[in-house]
Amino acid sequence: MKVAGSVRVPGDKSITHRALLLAGLTRGTSYIGGALTSLDAQSSARVLRQLGTELSPLRKGATVTSRGRGKFRRPADTLFCGNSGTTTRLLLGLLSAHRFSATLTGDSSLRRRPMRRVTGPLSQMGARFDEQPHDGLPLTVRGGSLRPLRYEMPVSSAQIKSAILLAGMAGEVEVSVCEPNGRSRDHTERLLQAFGYGVTQNDGWIHFTPGGKLQPFEIQIPGDPSSSAFLVGAAVLAESGELRILGVGVNPTRTGFLRVLERMGAKIDLESRSDHFGEPIADLVVRPAALRATEVTADEIPGLIDEIPLLAVLASRAEGATTFRQVGELRVKESDRLGLIAENLRTVGTEAEVAGDDLVVHGAESKPVGKVRTAGDHRLAMAFAVLGTLPGARIKIDDMACAAVSFPGFPETLHDIAGGRR
Ligand code: S3P
Repeated sequence: MKVAGSVRVPGDKSITHRALLLAGLTRGTSYIGGALTSLDAQSSARVLRQLGTELSPLRKGATVTSRGRGKFRRPADTLFCGNSGTTTRLLLGLLSAHRFSATLTGDSSLRRRPMRRVTGPLSQMGARFDEQPHDGLPLTVRGGSLRPLRYEMPVSSAQIKSAILLAGMAGEVEVSVCEPNGRSRDHTERLLQAFGYGVTQNDGWIHFTPGGKLQPFEIQIPGDPSSSAFLVGAAVLAESGELRILGVGVNPTRTGFLRVLERMGAKIDLESRSDHFGEPIADLVVRPAALRATEVTADEIPGLIDEIPLLAVLASRAEGATTFRQVGELRVKESDRLGLIAENLRTVGTEAEVAGDDLVVHGAESKPVGKVRTAGDHRLAMAFAVLGTLPGARIKIDDMACAAVSFPGFPETLHDIAGGRR
């Protein structure tokens, strides 16, 4: 395959969720340009409307207008968060500071995902929860006035960290959180700083102090580096050409995959750098490369957590065996991603195994052939679609439509960059 051209990827999912949630809490009209319009973003928009925010439709290319009331209103019905863990967990933080009760639920994947990691620290702040015995959804939160919190998180997770920071903001109390192994994405911290809140770091701790004020704002959402990763992967696997991906967010807490790919022998240039709302942005210029195996260490994992399916697929084409250390968190993503990455790599003819919490992927030169089981997980579908661009590959994906959770139009974009080859 030859890659060519310049493409844009949809808006960053993490920043879109955060911008929508914060706009819903300001008093007045905010404008969100370049917002992601995927199913997950629609979930945030839908529940925000139930909480009293007037929000224009999320449509590709249209700026979202949001009129918030300064506080959320008690919802009349259950808040359905679809497939979106970020919507659920961040909202639990904000609702903890609201004096009403609200029930959250989601699709069958989301209902199974652990919530005690968030409700535990929020309970310590004073929020109350009616929980399921199985640690999942549905879940009812009863908020009120909150106490300060100092909390050591059991896992590095931006969703846990953000739920606590947003509870601190909405409840106007100090909070400090510490991540055990490596820093997760810091978009919440950057946004809070942009509104004048104190967010400082020292010795692995992040300290939040109230004192800022949410004001109506205008933001332009950068391209999602996690979505760009699939196109970067396709370009690296290509036989010739060059691909330019325009206006991608390159926050260092999100670009761990680029550092790993460079170590594996890829060459990716960052050009036309700029900055907006405290977030660095650049064009990514990618060329094909021969890959060699690497070891991805435990402290690198939070900075590339969503890119592991793609990196694993690329590792299956590298020379040698690649190890991803301590990736147990993948078991509680949109699917059991850890098990399914290994299972699907074996299905298409490569060797891969899970050893404790590590994933080991052996490189192969054989043509990948087989039927991939996604369990409705968007990132598995897209990662294996990238593998399917190899010459001679024959890969069937049981559910390609789930890519729309984060990357509407992914099959068409992959087709375009591959110069017309499907
Ligand atoms: C996200 C945090 C990560 C990531 C998810 C988005 C966020 O989840 O996997 O896709 O926007 O905060 P965890 O916090 O569970 O690692």
